[in-house]
Formats: sequence, C-alpha cells, structure tokens
Amino acid sequence: MSDDTPPPAHQSASNDATPCTTVQKARFSDRVRIRSILGRPDGGAGLAGQKVRISGWVKTGREQGKGAFAFLEVNDGSCPANLQVMVDASVSDLSRLIATGTCVTVDGCLKIPPEGKGTKQKVELSVVEVVDVGTVDTATYPIPKTKLTLERLREFPHLRSRTNSISAIARIRHALAIATHTFFDEEGFLYIQTPIITTSDCEGAGEMFQVTTLINHTEKLERDLIENPPPTEADVEAARAIVKARGEAVAQLKAAKANKEEITASVAELNEAKVSLARTEERSRLKPGLPKADDGKIDYSQDFFGRQAFLTVSGQLQVETYACGLSDVYTFGPTFRAENSHTSRHLAEFWMVEPELAFADLEDDMNCAEAYVRYMCKWLLEKRYDDMELMAKNFDKGCIDRLKLVASTPFGRLTYTKAIEVLEEAVAKGKKFENPVEWGIDLASEHERYLTEVVFQKPLIVYNYPKGIKAFYMRLNDDGKTVAAMDVLVPKVGELIGGSQREERIDVIMERIEEMGLPVEPYEWYLDLRRYGTAKHSGFGLGFERMVLFATGMDNIRDVIPFPRYPGRADL
Ligand code: 4AD
Ligand code: MG
Repeated sequence: MSDDTPPPAHQSASNDATPCTTVQKARFSDRVRIRSILGRPDGGAGLAGQKVRISGWVKTGREQGKGAFAFLEVNDGSCPANLQVMVDASVSDLSRLIATGTCVTVDGCLKIPPEGKGTKQKVELSVVEVVDVGTVDTATYPIPKTKLTLERLREFPHLRSRTNSISAIARIRHALAIATHTFFDEEGFLYIQTPIITTSDCEGAGEMFQVTTLINHTEKLERDLIENPPPTEADVEAARAIVKARGEAVAQLKAAKANKEEITASVAELNEAKVSLARTEERSRLKPGLPKADDGKIDYSQDFFGRQAFLTVSGQLQVETYACGLSDVYTFGPTFRAENSHTSRHLAEFWMVEPELAFADLEDDMNCAEAYVRYMCKWLLEKRYDDMELMAKNFDKGCIDRLKLVASTPFGRLTYTKAIEVLEEAVAKGKKFENPVEWGIDLASEHERYLTEVVFQKPLIVYNYPKGIKAFYMRLNDDGKTVAAMDVLVPKVGELIGGSQREERIDVIMERIEEMGLPVEPYEWYLDLRRYGTAKHSGFGLGFERMVLFATGMDNIRDVIPFPRYPGRADL
C-alpha cells in the first residue's frame, strides 16, 4: 500500500484511536483521494474544517431547495464509498454537474453533515469552487443511474469500470496480484518473465493460437498482384531476348576491337537487361496464396520467426529452466487457449500464476499451493474488507465467510482413486451426474464441484491422477498407472489450480513423449534439463481469474477480467 493511502477503517481502528487531522494528498496530483477521507478509522470526521480538492465521477446528483443547491455522490475509484458533495447555486450552474457520469474536480471544505438527515456519512464536502467539469450527454450515456445487468455492461468494456461492481472487482484483483508477489517474495521465489510467443506446446493439447505474419503478407501480395499483374511467360521471354541481343552486341564490339568506351557502355546495357530479367522472372514466380514447401505444406521458413510460433498456453516449461538453476521461481502472465469453451469458467485469454519449486515433491507442491491460496484470502480480509462487503451485499452473501473459512481451515486431500470411490458411492445413493463416473475419466466440473461443495464443503486437493488424462511432463508414480499430479478444487469454481511433480528421469520422460505421440525435437531443450544435472522439482498453475471468481463470488469469469476474450468476442 502506498504511503499516501491510509489503511481502511476496520484495519487500523484498533490501534489508531486518534487519527491525524491533516489530509493526505495524492502524491502526483493536487487532489485528495476519497479513500484518504472516508477510509479513515473515523470515516473522515476528524478532517472537518480542512480544505481539500477532490476529483471523481458523479454517481448520482440531485438539485434541492428549489434549485438553491445540489448534492452529488462522487466516486474516484479509490474505494467503494462515495463522497457526498454539496454545491451551492451561487458557486456554479448546477444543471451541468448533476448528470450521472459527469466528471468533476472541486475545491471545498470538509464538514460534519447536519444530524437527523439519515446520512451515513461522517463527513461531506461543501464546495467553494468548481475547478473542472467533464459533462455528459444524458441522452446517449450508456451507463445510467439505474443498474444494468452484468451481461449488458459487457457491451461497454470501455465504460464499465465506473460501476460499483466492476470497480470493486478491479481493486480486489489488484490486491490479489500484490498478495501473489508478496507471498512469493516472502518465501524466497524469484519472479521470472516467461515468453508470450512460444514455439513449444506445454500442455500438448493443441489448443494454441498461431502467431504468423504469413497471412498479412499473403493478403498484401494478392492485392499487389491484382494492381500490378505478374509478368506472363511471353514477358519473361521478351526480357530474355533483350539480354541475348545485348550479349551479342557486346560480343560483336569485342570481336571488332571497338574502343573501350563503346564496349563499357554496351556491357552496362547488358547488365541492366540482366537485372530486369531477374526481376521479371522473380515476379513471374509470385503466386497468390500462402507459400508452400516442396511437400505441399505451408512453408514456415518464410514466416516471421522462420518457424511456426504460437501464443503460450502456460509459462511452465520455460520457467522450469530457471527453477533448474535458481531453485524457486514463479511466473505470472497472460496465457491463451483456443478452446471453443462457452462456459462461465473459461476465457481464451487468462492470467496464470505458475510457481516452480526445485527440490520439492508433490506434497511440498500441495503445501505451497494451499499456503498461497490461504494467504490471498487473509490478505483480502485485511486489505479490501470494504470491497468484500460490497460483493457480499450485491452478489454473494457468503463470500466473506468463505474467505474466513479458507484462511483458517486446512484443505481436504484425497487421491483421485478415492475421489472416484466417493463419487461412485454418491451415484449408488441416487446422485445423478451428466457425465458417467469410472476410474480413468477426467473429472468433469460437476464432479469437482460436488466433491468440494457437497462432500468436503471446503477447498480440496485431489492427487495422483491416471497418466492417460494428464500431460507428458508429470512424474510417473511407482504403480505405473498414475502420475504425481494434483488439482485444487474450490467451492463455486471447481478447478482453481493444476500442478504436478515433474518427471525428472530422462528415460521415463522420453518414453512418455513417445507414448503420447508427441514430436521429440521441439522438447530437446526441455529434455536437456534432465540430461544435465537433473533435479526433483514440482510446480503448479493457478488460474488468476478463477481466484478472483472464488474470492468475489461472481458467477461469470467474463466479469472479473477487464477485457474478456472468448469465442466470438475480443472488444477493444
Ligand atoms: O491445469 P492447467 O491446464 O495447468 C497448466 O497449464 C500447468 N502447465 C500449470 C503448471 O503446472 N505450471 O491450468 C492451470 C489453471 C487451471 O487450474 C485453471 O484454474 C486455469 O489455469 N485455467 C483457465 N482459466 C480460465 N480460462 C481457461 N480457459 C483456463 N484453462 C485453465
Ligand atoms: Mg488442469
């Protein structure tokens, strides 16, 4: 937290009974953040009498006293609460201030509001001067005072940050990101930036977006060929004939022992004709469509990177290279999956936190995942309680209790085999699932949620999955059937984390790659980590948006990322 932002009221109330009476300005602007006023333990009352400048957007505005003054509820995004601002008609034309969405910068004096008006605010601002106004055309402004559904708000990704819900989610998301870096920093992990453009498919599932300039180049070429049609065979022949004629001319001059200047001029003409022929031949070979190699496949050697490239589905393989040198590392970045999923839990672009622990086995990995998730829950309760209250009020009554439960209770743990038994018992007792349950299946979301929400009623780690449903890099267990994989399942969301101990034995991993029909060549560098100084290591990936979903209790993942991307949709 920056030094200009006091902690929220609940946090410091116990140890700060006499708040200071000076206002803390934002360091890089002449305004005071509304959080610095209303977020104080005394709700800002101790600042009465202070002159401040505040800026923000009007949530609601109403003229009162027959137009003698107006009340504006102003929010600047620093906290969920609005500051009540009173403007007298003698100070400004009130009509241009009151429309929802108007941006105002005002100077004024903080005052204790008169009692008995039913106001919750401990302090309000009485305006002395309206410094700046960004007006709003109410006829066209798409975010009215009345609430729009979250679905409708998705139509306005450029304006929805002005709503209470989306701004609270943005602050919670920020807090979770800071908690992430703080947790790993405190535990001695280094933050490694892994590439977004990659040439290896980590999950081997082929759900990658391709990165190529071949298509733009082809389009450009095709346009060019229409505007300047390529030379015909006759054009090439004509160019060849010129070269031949000029060659003969040079030969004749030499045979006739012509003077030096004449020969030089003739040779220059010949060279010019040769260049022109080369150009004509080259252009005559241009064809519409993507460049093809001799085998008829697309010739990626002509692509930007000289080979096929993709957007990453996970930074794991790359971050492993740093774990096998720096021990404990993590990456936190955007990942991309071209799955055609239309669920409320999937995005095509999402953020993943991926720690990689050297000299750690699956149990260490599970302990780390559990500690990290619990740390984030505690962090939110400490740092963003006001936003969590808003989420509890507007979306999910139980979200604060859920954070408290997770922060204070150890996660359940059971093997995949045991989980299947539990599900089979439930089926035997009449529970109906859409997807059949038997050993070997990939657990469906309904199974995961049943286990965590109904059976355990808390987060749960399922581990030791069948090797057939997991990635090639997971360590084969001694039973030869299962791998040392683990998934953290949480109520409301299902799978929050996927991780594993990595296969560090070169012969075993080679066999797994072969067994799964993957090409070895792209993974040679990854195999080198096993060839040279191999180390036991483990890691996991936490879907950051799924964590925000879990914390806030929101229903749809499209509302917890600022700019959601999913099939058919990529606005801005
Ligand atoms: O289980 P996943 O596929 O694991 C990996 O990618 C590993 N390479 C991680 C590692 O070991 N370093 O994905 C990890 C998590 C999932 O548990 C889920 O929370 C999230 O990423 N996730 C998605 N979140 C939103 N939209 C999608 N399409 C997601 N796919 C996975
Ligand atoms: Mg997974």
